Amino acid sequence: MMRTHYCGGISAANVGEEVSLCGWAHRRRDHGGVIFIDLRDREGLAQVVFNPERKEAFALGERVRNEFVLRVTGTVRRRPEGTVNPSLKSGEVELVVREVEILNPSATPPFQVDEDNLSETVRLENRVLDLRREPMQRNLRLRHRAAMAARRYLDEHGFIDIETPFLYKSTPEGAREFLVPSRLHDGHFYALPQSPQLFKQMLMIAGFDRYYQIVKCFRDEDLRADRQPEFTQIDIETSFLAEEEIRAVMEGLARRMFAEAAGIELPHPFPIMRYDDAMRDYGVDKPDLRVPLKLTELTDVMKDVEFKVFAGPANAPGGRVAALRIPEGGALTRGEIDAYTEEVKALGAKGLAFIKVNEAAKGAEGLQSPIVKNLHARALAAILERTGARDGDLVFFGADKALVVNASLGFLRQKIGHERGLAEKGWRPLWVVDFPMFEFDEETKAWKARHHPFTSPKDGHEQYLESAPEKAYAKAYDLVLNGWEIAGGSVRIHRQEIQQQVFRGLKISAEEQKAKFGFLLDALQYGAPPHGGIAFGFDRMVTLMAGAEAIRDVIAFPKTQRGQDLLTGAPTPVTEKQLRELHIRLRNPPQT
Ligand code: AMO
Ligand code: AMP
Repeated sequence: MMRTHYCGGISAANVGEEVSLCGWAHRRRDHGGVIFIDLRDREGLAQVVFNPERKEAFALGERVRNEFVLRVTGTVRRRPEGTVNPSLKSGEVELVVREVEILNPSATPPFQVDEDNLSETVRLENRVLDLRREPMQRNLRLRHRAAMAARRYLDEHGFIDIETPFLYKSTPEGAREFLVPSRLHDGHFYALPQSPQLFKQMLMIAGFDRYYQIVKCFRDEDLRADRQPEFTQIDIETSFLAEEEIRAVMEGLARRMFAEAAGIELPHPFPIMRYDDAMRDYGVDKPDLRVPLKLTELTDVMKDVEFKVFAGPANAPGGRVAALRIPEGGALTRGEIDAYTEEVKALGAKGLAFIKVNEAAKGAEGLQSPIVKNLHARALAAILERTGARDGDLVFFGADKALVVNASLGFLRQKIGHERGLAEKGWRPLWVVDFPMFEFDEETKAWKARHHPFTSPKDGHEQYLESAPEKAYAKAYDLVLNGWEIAGGSVRIHRQEIQQQVFRGLKISAEEQKAKFGFLLDALQYGAPPHGGIAFGFDRMVTLMAGAEAIRDVIAFPKTQRGQDLLTGAPTPVTEKQLRELHIRLRNPPQT
């Protein structure tokens, strides 16, 4: 046998046995004529001892450097008193080498495999070595367990795994698409799917009843810590279930995955919050409930104050004035407040007014801020009463379009809550429901679907689809965990005329409907069942389970924020022949 045990698999139970181990030389130490090598494999480390009496083995041991691949055979013995390493699975024992084989030497690696604090660039350029590191091994095995837990749960609940195409058709669904030129059809393109959304709906119309797929999705978006251009969804669709029933099954899935893969018990049941309430109280649609702060509404009392900065937005349609109380925020320095001000300005705010509450009992006297003199007594009283501010607190204000106020105060709430140690520990899941059907895109000056255009309006809201889009709410829901959106889904439109109404509401002409979505509209005519579903952001779930910072840490071969794969070098230029076959002529070919 090449190997009898894993390195991390030997223990006191093997004392006296002859075993063979294979793995990588993790570290080598010379100790007065005796050589110690920590041999590493995916299960952990084993200490291997080379004694000079075994001349041949010892000579080879001397040649070993970090990351050499070895096969060693010898006897397991208890480590001498005082040299036991309780942090290792195999820490009570060591292997005394009789025979060693260097299966492959290694060039000097650019970093030690147990090194922390490596720059991400170095890690991604040397991803193969980076993946040998223990945290990465742990994360990818956690990811595997999470996928297995999901598959077991979904199989038990009657979901069928069906694959759908990657070479798909360009369909406006929200994000920018990646396109693939067709060789056989000059000037024609496939698009990589942003999600299998329409395929899963067509599978419901085809009668499969319950579908799932752990599937790659592709979106050419600006990248962030929680976004990759290709990422993995657990994509799910069901027929004949009401919104609440779908959520219950999905809640069970999330709970099972966290419990089985990571030993994390999520609270039961998940609370439910309406989108409008989330925006009012938290300023965001994915509130981190670990932070116990809420925004305070002040629009009504600011309509007739002298301070134009507040009175203006308070009287403007779509305007909002709100406050955020920071407990003991009086301790914030001028510099810290200035830094927060710059950050909210980047989100569109014009400033960040604040009041320090020195002594609330003294009324205006006890409040420290240049804006106090421009606010009347009623406004000041409302600020203190509604925020519940106490002596030593600081209150921030946002006054602008509601969109801007929500974005700035929502951001501050999250940031300051964590920075000042106000956040609770543990897991706070939340369903956010009743999203608006549409949102107004200021750039294009047009309404667009908030989730996607196949989402069903709430019962009775069909009447608003074309005439008053701002009033139409959707049977859409997101699952939020500790401030991360980990899943999103909806009940779908299953009647062709409603789907057409939504398209018309979105100003998609009849011709365009036919060209882009004809296949869906056709399928909807042949007895489409009521159906709905969800997609979990699998990378995000595993990131949370792992306690990692970015989804890149739970993906074997991720891309950088600039969409590059530093390991392979993708994207790269291609040959002229390849381009010719694809009927592409470059105006400015890259210099190679
Ligand atoms: P949605 O666009 O909300 O819904 O995506 C579902 C979930 O996928 C995750 N996610 C991402 N993760 C990493 N990188 C990205 N770029 C990225 N984009 C999204 C999020 C998100 O909640 N077809 C619908 C689902 C449905 O209606 O059933 C869809 O794709 O966690
Ligand atoms: P000003 O009167 O412009 O000097 O502003 C007084 C305070 O109000 C400063 O702290 C500004 O940062 C703040 N401020 C200005 N515009 C806004 C706004 N739209 N929302 C909240 N605070 C603001």
